[in-house]
Amino acid sequence: MRIGVLGTGGVGQTLAGKLAELGHDVCMGSREAGNEKAVQWAAEAGEHASEGSFADAAGHGELVLNATPGAVALEALRAAGGERLAGKVLIDVSNPLDFSNGFPPTLTVCNDDSVGEQIQREFPDARVVKMFNTIPAELMVNPRAIEPSHTLPLCGEDDAAKGEAVALAESLGWPREDLLDLGGIAGARGMEMFLGLWVRLIGATGNRLVTVKVLSA
Ligand SMILES: NC(=O)c1ccc[n+]([C@@H]2O[C@H](COP(=O)([O-])OP(=O)(O)OC[C@H]3O[C@@H](n4cnc5c(N)ncnc54)[C@H](OP(=O)(O)O)[C@@H]3O)[C@@H](O)[C@H]2O)c1
Repeated sequence: MRIGVLGTGGVGQTLAGKLAELGHDVCMGSREAGNEKAVQWAAEAGEHASEGSFADAAGHGELVLNATPGAVALEALRAAGGERLAGKVLIDVSNPLDFSNGFPPTLTVCNDDSVGEQIQREFPDARVVKMFNTIPAELMVNPRAIEPSHTLPLCGEDDAAKGEAVALAESLGWPREDLLDLGGIAGARGMEMFLGLWVRLIGATGNRLVTVKVLSA
C-alpha cells in the first residue's frame, strides 16, 4: 500500500520505518522537501522509502498518518492539502502537548474538544481515525515489547476507516482483541487527556515504556 507519514520525529521515523520494512511504499513528509532527517531516513529505509513535503506525502498515500505535534497538526494538514486527504483514512497519532510552562505538559485543547475532532471538522472528507497516541512509539510497531497484552484504543466516525486502521495495527503485531473501539471521534478527548495520566505513570515507574490494559467485568 502507498502510505504517507507526516512527521520526521521519532514517531514518524518509527512508523515509517516499520511500514517500509513490511513492504509498504512509504513517503515521509515534512514542512519542506529535502528535510535532513527525512532524506537520511529515506536513504536508510530502502527501496520502499521516499521523502517530500507534507503535500507530497499526503498525495502519495492511499492512507496517511499524522505524526506532528497536536498544537500544529492543523497547520501541517493545511500544508498537506484537504484535497489530498479527501476520501483517505487519516490516522491521527498526535497529542496536543504544551510544554511552555515546563513539565508535566498541559494540553492545548481538552475537555470538550480534541485535535482529532478539530482535524475531522476542518477536513470533513478525510476519514479520521485517532489511534496510537496513547502509547510510546516503540510499542506502536512492537506491541510485544511489553508482555502480557495491553490495550490500544481507537476512535473515529467512519467504521470502514477504523477497519482499515485495525488491519494496519494487526499487521504491526497488535492482536485484534487488544484493540478497543471507543466509538466516534469525540473519543479522542479521552485519548488525548490520557496524557495527563501517562506522563505521571512514566514518572512513577521511572520507565518511558509504560502502557495500560483495560479490564472489564
Ligand atoms: N514520542 C512518542 O512516543 C509519542 C507517542 C504517542 C504520540 N506521540 C505524538 O506523536 C506526534 C509526533 O511526535 P514526535 O516526537 O515524533 O515528533 P514532533 O517533534 O512532535 O513533531 C515533528 C514534526 O512536526 C513538524 N512540525 C513542527 N512544527 C511544525 C509547525 N509549526 N507546523 C507544521 N509542522 C511542524 C516537524 O516538521 P519538519 O519535519 O519540517 O521539522 C516534524 O515533521 C506528537 O503529536 C506526539 O505528541 C508521540
